[in-house]
Amino acid sequence: MASNGLINKAILLVGGKGTRLLPLTKETPKPMLRIAGAPVTEHQIRKAQRAGITEIVLSTSYLAEVFEPYFGDGSRFGVSIKYAVEETPLGTGGAIANGAKLLDLKDSEAFFIFNGDVISGHDLAAQAELHRSKRAEVTLLLTRVKDARQYGCVPVDETGRVIDFLEKMDQPIADTINAGCYIFQREVLDQIPDGEVTSIEREIFPKLLSQRKSLFGLVDEGYWIDMGTPEAMLRASRDLILNPITNLGAAPSQDSLIHQGAEVDNSAEINDGSFIDNGANVGSNVTISGSIVAENAIIEANSVVIDSYIAPKSRVISGSRIEGEIFGF
Ligand code: GDD
Ligand code: MG
Repeated sequence: MASNGLINKAILLVGGKGTRLLPLTKETPKPMLRIAGAPVTEHQIRKAQRAGITEIVLSTSYLAEVFEPYFGDGSRFGVSIKYAVEETPLGTGGAIANGAKLLDLKDSEAFFIFNGDVISGHDLAAQAELHRSKRAEVTLLLTRVKDARQYGCVPVDETGRVIDFLEKMDQPIADTINAGCYIFQREVLDQIPDGEVTSIEREIFPKLLSQRKSLFGLVDEGYWIDMGTPEAMLRASRDLILNPITNLGAAPSQDSLIHQGAEVDNSAEINDGSFIDNGANVGSNVTISGSIVAENAIIEANSVVIDSYIAPKSRVISGSRIEGEIFGF
């Protein structure tokens, strides 16, 4: 039996365009961007595996071809991975329906769905337990934010029952938002039109609520981030390295993460959760703080790099100072 109770299947939604991360997402889809030593999707798969999930479908669309060469059949990660490819993006609802076809779900079986850009410390077993105890049809993970306008605003009553689902509204009526991790009963799929472009947030959740289906929310107060902007991506990488989060189980807390294939001069100072990736070269007397130096980038001597992303194969010339930049595209 899976360690989260009963649920051992999941869909990862990894087909979005990642527009807010351009130019980083020009050739690399957002979920394949490397933070804290691995693609975002790998962090998610490892968390799912630790929670007892054994079968995962990646629902892909934009730059779909880059996922399979990296993740293969999943055995390297202790899970089985299949790939659902949308010729044209089907939206989050269509992507769930399309991906679920590869999961071989039985009647009344529950499964997880993850947005592909979220890093969270929440306990999947607690979410599964709430789902079971409420006999819910959908159980959403919720988190609190100061400004809910960028998110799905999800008010709940005192029992955790979802009252409404309001995607990206101008004047949010609650501080609890959709954190992008759901448990669905298989039957919910019958409400998603097959092969059509549909938004789970804008169309399907409101429709389920109007049908008085039972939707519950688990409000989690722990770590949560959507890494959909450059600033958030740097923060997520840094947080994973500096302060490995309960249940995320990344590498033990450390000041920085240097890939074994990187070359860093002894006199360089790498700190504040920086990640130096494979093939990167860091010269003498360089200081790097709170930054990602991507694969095969070169940081020449006496440079300072703070809170920045240095693009793959780019070169920071000797004596540069780079702060708060996306550099090298
Ligand atoms: N396969 C596939 N096809 N995946 C898609 C598609 C599609 O057409 N469109 C989006 N996705 C994936 C993205 O790759 C991402 O992993 C996830 O679905 C959510 O899309 P985003 O574009 O990141 O949405 P968002 O951040 O604006 O809003 C969503 O996440 C918020 C939390 O981070 C919504 O679910 C909000 O309700 C939520 O609050
Ligand atoms: Mg997002």
